[in-house]
Amino acid sequence: MPSTVIVGAQWGDEGKGKIVDLLGENSDVIVRFQGGNNAGHTIVRDGEEFRFHLLPSGILYPGKVCVIGNGVVVDPAVLCLEIDNLRSRGIETAELKLSSNAHLIMPYHVFLDKEHETKLGKLSIGTTRRGIGPCYSDKASRLGIRVQDLLDEKILKKKVVAAMEPKRQSLREHIKDPALDLHAMAEEYLAFGERLAPYITDTPKLIYDALSRGENVIMEGAQGTLLDIDHGTYPFVTSSNPIAGEACVGAGIGPKLIDEVTGVTKAYCTRVGSGPFPSELHDDVGKHLLERGHEFGTTTGRERRCGWIDLVALRYAARINGLTSLAVTKLDVLSGLKKLQACVRYRNDEGATFEEFPYHQTILHNVRPEYEELPGFDEEIGGVRKRSDLPDAALQFLDFIEKESGVPIRLVGVGPGREQVAEG
Ligand code: GDP
Ligand code: IMO
Ligand code: MG
Repeated sequence: MPSTVIVGAQWGDEGKGKIVDLLGENSDVIVRFQGGNNAGHTIVRDGEEFRFHLLPSGILYPGKVCVIGNGVVVDPAVLCLEIDNLRSRGIETAELKLSSNAHLIMPYHVFLDKEHETKLGKLSIGTTRRGIGPCYSDKASRLGIRVQDLLDEKILKKKVVAAMEPKRQSLREHIKDPALDLHAMAEEYLAFGERLAPYITDTPKLIYDALSRGENVIMEGAQGTLLDIDHGTYPFVTSSNPIAGEACVGAGIGPKLIDEVTGVTKAYCTRVGSGPFPSELHDDVGKHLLERGHEFGTTTGRERRCGWIDLVALRYAARINGLTSLAVTKLDVLSGLKKLQACVRYRNDEGATFEEFPYHQTILHNVRPEYEELPGFDEEIGGVRKRSDLPDAALQFLDFIEKESGVPIRLVGVGPGREQVAEG
């Protein structure tokens, strides 16, 4: 604090939501800066579970300003539903702010996402099919529709026509779908505009002013470093930049205004969708992680692929993000495993070893992980609140992660509840 960026250091689902909720207690403003409703951030408070796709994970605190930044792609139907769902649970979102420059996911983006994935067949990315890629494509092609366009019927219609024109061929099978009818779409989106108008703000200015007053700001990333479109395992990535640098772009502040960058990593690894995952397990340990960790996607319900923690990838995430601290989540899930392993390097078929994340994708697809073996632990650790009270083997494992990544561990997750954290 005062300004902390929180990013995923793996392939997403590291537990960012929980960490943002926890650190949010001492902050004034919480900003989501990229991604869309491909994200699913889970918060468990007093046994009650909340899953957010678009709303920043600070939204459960009354009175804290929560910002959806310009770097986010917003499906307004999903946002309205999230607001309504919270209201039905007695939580108001009066302090929500929505960037006028954020891009909108339109019905044709969702159709195109599904269409592209189906066409790729066996080579599909395994996207969440929420229209994320096509929406960011339109943004880059300067064919995007922005939140501010919802406030002007004429502009909205003109832009939708221009955006759909080059997509006619790809959309031809769906062109008769009522969701793609220009007038119906305009009506629907204008109604969203009316609903969301009270939230629409100049969010970069709001964030800058808060920082100028010395307030604490958290910038919350979605997805994770290895899903970054520039630095991840391309093309098996998302279409935005989940890394810390994007916090500046997606929130609209200068790089010198960032004080801390916390990377969230599980004590093991998971991945949803296709793409390389060197430390993936297909054995009983993988099953243990899946079952004990309840590793099913928050957004799509898909089984997550599971494996040992990958310290080659974590070192890479530490460098790319400039991590100043780590939050290690789900340490409790490792309880009951006789031995723990941590991938420290990769080796390819020619015997070459890689301690740095390989910059060539083909290498990454063909490497095998090499592990350091450490002792396991059996104790239930869900009640531990001080790091030094953890079992010796758990401490040794954490020390090893710290040594290998070169980043100090600030928080250790020992269960899904927000109070289930060991510090110190
Ligand atoms: P995010 O996308 O990074 O916010 O992570 P998700 O919410 O998609 O997935 C993380 C899952 O792990 C959620 O179900 C959390 O409730 C849960 N979780 C977070 N931290 C811990 C922890 O320390 N231990 C356990 N057992 N579960 C955790
Ligand atoms: P949070 O914020 C895990 C993955 C998808 C797919 C790839 C591209 O909850 O950590 P997309 O729909 O973005 O075009 O899909 O990225 N993916 C995620 N995996 N957690 C996420 O978000 C993800 N968001 C996208 O599974 O492999
Ligand atoms: Mg998630």
